[in-house]
Amino acid sequence: MASLANKVAVVTGGSGTVGSGIIYQLLKAGAKVIAPVRNERGKQSLLSELESLPSTANLETPLADVSDAKSVEALGNEVKTKYGTVDHVVTAVGSWWQKGPLLQFAGLHDSCDEMLTQYQTYVMSHFIMAKVFVPLLKAAPESSFTFITGSGGEQLFNVDASMIRAQVGALFCVIDCIQVEYADKSYPRINEFRIRSWIKRHAEATGSGGYSHRVLGQYLLESCVASNTKGQLLRVADAELAFVNP
Ligand SMILES: NC(=O)c1ccc[n+]([C@@H]2O[C@H](COP(=O)([O-])OP(=O)(O)OC[C@H]3O[C@@H](n4cnc5c(N)ncnc54)[C@H](OP(=O)(O)O)[C@@H]3O)[C@@H](O)[C@H]2O)c1
Repeated sequence: MASLANKVAVVTGGSGTVGSGIIYQLLKAGAKVIAPVRNERGKQSLLSELESLPSTANLETPLADVSDAKSVEALGNEVKTKYGTVDHVVTAVGSWWQKGPLLQFAGLHDSCDEMLTQYQTYVMSHFIMAKVFVPLLKAAPESSFTFITGSGGEQLFNVDASMIRAQVGALFCVIDCIQVEYADKSYPRINEFRIRSWIKRHAEATGSGGYSHRVLGQYLLESCVASNTKGQLLRVADAELAFVNP
């Protein structure tokens, strides 16, 4: 695995399960991490997952809402002023949604509002991050942008979770378009990391199914961020995570 010491990484979703596991491993590997959070609760949630690290001096938690274009633009300007360029970006956003089948969920107006909110979360947040941060990636073949997605966008595991299938499925298409746009460019490496496993916070991953977010974070670093993987869809399932030593 290539060294991540002193590399600058921007990671979204740090208050959540997947993002905090990735940030844990990036800090452990010596990277400087910028993790935008929406509020103090999000910051505390992230910090509580990092308590066992010797130091979090390399972590910054600016306030930003990654589903809001103006907010991300302001974040991009701050990062550019301070660092000039960044080495890696990882986008993980969006919580599990299981409120019912699309046509039976609420009335027309509430359903439309919910569809748009989830589109803003699952699709637009990744698009906005790419729009602002791909141009800030270092002009080097190792720089990378990684979209985190889930296999719930591939097929309907549960009709009550139709929103996930609809929104993450749309996100796949956006990522595909961006990968084609950058296919013949020497940088950055633009990858999709699609999770099929159940990922839990470290303290909750105690043998009853699922994997710790630290295991996932380590696998992401090895297979994608600090590797030479380029323009790929990387699928990760239990078989891959079973042999990771976090
Ligand atoms: N955990 C799994 O087993 C699993 C499996 C497959 C795929 N995934 C994928 O991994 C990603 C993250 O999942 P997770 O388990 O980490 O979820 P999570 O623990 O619920 O965290 C969700 C993250 O997204 C942020 N977020 C939600 N809505 C947002 C919005 N409108 N604007 C900005 N930020 C928003 C949350 O921020 P706040 O704290 O501020 O709300 C939080 O940081 C998702 O795309 C999911 O599909 C997860």
